[in-house]
Amino acid sequence: MDILAALDSLVTEFESGLALASTPESLEELRVDALGRKGKLAQIMSRLPELEPAARPAAGQKANSVKERCNALFEARKQAILAIRESAALRRFDPTLPGRAPWRGSLHPTTLITEEICAVFSGMGFDVVSGPEVEHDYYNFEALNMPAAHPARDMQDTLYITGQTLLRTHTSPVQVRSMLARRPPLAVIAPGKVYRRDSDLTHTPMFHQVEGLLVEEGTSLAHLRGTLTIFVRAVFGAQTRVRFRPSFFPFTEPSAEVDISCSICGGEGQVAGQPCRVCKTTGWVEILGCGMVDPAVFAAVGYPEDISGFAFGMGVERVAMLKYGIGDLRMFFENDARFLAQFA
Ligand code: DAH
Repeated sequence: MDILAALDSLVTEFESGLALASTPESLEELRVDALGRKGKLAQIMSRLPELEPAARPAAGQKANSVKERCNALFEARKQAILAIRESAALRRFDPTLPGRAPWRGSLHPTTLITEEICAVFSGMGFDVVSGPEVEHDYYNFEALNMPAAHPARDMQDTLYITGQTLLRTHTSPVQVRSMLARRPPLAVIAPGKVYRRDSDLTHTPMFHQVEGLLVEEGTSLAHLRGTLTIFVRAVFGAQTRVRFRPSFFPFTEPSAEVDISCSICGGEGQVAGQPCRVCKTTGWVEILGCGMVDPAVFAAVGYPEDISGFAFGMGVERVAMLKYGIGDLRMFFENDARFLAQFA
């Protein structure tokens, strides 16, 4: 091939080689192969003496322009490959993607419900108070009209620490402590842990209660009913119905248990044609115990005979189970993050 033709085909060959190369390294190889000291261009130029002396300058010029042209093609292709690389790297880091959300903790459902219950009663003027979990027999039983032989003191139910100290079995002793610390009128709400020697599917040795007490001259059962109805509707919804069932507690007279229309089936007794497992088709669920404070309790704290008041007590886990439709009490104590995260 004559030298000028060889120079032309060097450019086209180089150009198609560049188009196939995809890395800066393979580009560099091509460049050295074509333009390097022992490359194709140098080989062609070594044949310069073959030409007539008069034709040599033109061939020399052409060789220079081939070199320039190849260098320009090389640079352009190199820039293109680098640009592709950069955009691929950018694609791997996409600044427009939303950040990974950090794991957010949540309050335990027991805490949430306790706070909700206390907030409702705070709104009605009750003070939030507390009492000790290790309690004296006197506050837990005696002053609440449960004398020594009372069955509620049975060793089966109570966790005794010594003969006279025990883990409180309910939050009711806070009633006694509050009445001793204050004078009427008073209204307190007392959340806290309580302990019983009991452990099965529906009982845990420790659980939570909220106690309420209001003492003021002229307080009647109607006030109790009104207060609890407001509470129940605030927590379970305005459509909730309330029913008082006569019951017995040593520290209240008369006493009642309060049922609400089942929060799961809406009082229908069935959900989607299936019997409601929460209320066992009755449409009602028990939510708390209450009553008018027994005169014997007022006597124990030295309150005047003509004073009156009401008290109530409820299990927090129970309220939470009914409100959220939680079927298993153990959920509250297992700390399974999949369960707890639902309350975030
Ligand atoms: N202390 C009772 C219990 O643990 C609950 C209770 C019932 C509290 C009636 C009260 C009340 O204040 O008036 O089962």
